[in-house]
Amino acid sequence: MTAAARGGAPEGGRYGEAVFRPEQAGENDRIDFGALAYDDITMARLRSLGAGPGWRCLDVGAGTGTVSRRLLGEAGVESVLAVDRDVRFLGERPVPGLELLEADISTPGFTSGRFHLVHARFVLMHLAEHERLITALAELVAPGGVLVLSDAVDLTSDRTPSTPYTTAMRAMWQGLRASIGTDVSWVPSYPHLLRAAGLMPVAADLHVPALQPGSPISRFWADTWERSRPAMLATGRVDDAAIDEAVRYLDSDACSSLSAGMLTAWGWQPEQGTVV
Ligand SMILES: C[S@@+](CC[C@H](N)C(=O)[O-])C[C@H]1O[C@@H](n2cnc3c(N)ncnc32)[C@H](O)[C@@H]1O
Repeated sequence: MTAAARGGAPEGGRYGEAVFRPEQAGENDRIDFGALAYDDITMARLRSLGAGPGWRCLDVGAGTGTVSRRLLGEAGVESVLAVDRDVRFLGERPVPGLELLEADISTPGFTSGRFHLVHARFVLMHLAEHERLITALAELVAPGGVLVLSDAVDLTSDRTPSTPYTTAMRAMWQGLRASIGTDVSWVPSYPHLLRAAGLMPVAADLHVPALQPGSPISRFWADTWERSRPAMLATGRVDDAAIDEAVRYLDSDACSSLSAGMLTAWGWQPEQGTVV
């Protein structure tokens, strides 16, 4: 059993150490390509759940802070506490109402207080102990508030036609799992896990952005493969030429593959006195 499977740090270190180091040039651009692909979907969901004036929000693993800033600027929430293990990108563009906390969310008690909205996107999939973390995040939601989790869902299957894209993606998921412990296999269980954490009602939806040449999601995957290339090569599933071919394929009209999707699940903290 690997260290990650036991709940400890994976062999290659954690997110931001072996792979996706924030000090590596362009890591903020990679995160922003993901944000460009998904921010409108995320914001529509958060606003439909009620995020607006008077809400105190916690954005966990906030990255470059695009969602935190849009919550303040567009939705008009009262405040956002943006937490990340490295806040260098968050500090670049301060806005009123945005508070920063540099912390590892795996550390028990990394923050205190209760929030109307607790949001984590593309974070928990990279961390071990996801069930404990979901319970810990649920405890930070005020009565009547909502926990919103988004992570990737791999939509390839045994029947998926083999393309340069699917070959690269399979190597990427396997390589990230072996190096930093990334595991998306349990993401479809989110609604169940939110319910198990005492939230009710819960619901979820799925968004799959179109893989088109030059699109933010295509550029995101190409950049992600570049940064995880050593981990992908270590799987033995691909060589450098296969990764290069997959990057060219993504940027060509021959591309006919389905991107990984973003599952968003949400669950409400019952008002005090509600039987759950
Ligand atoms: C893929 S990025 C997603 C950023 C942002 N949530 C978004 O969707 O645009 C993952 C972020 O989680 C942060 N992160 C990873 N592990 C963390 C941890 N243990 N504690 C706090 N932040 C963490 C990373 O530093 C990075 O900024």
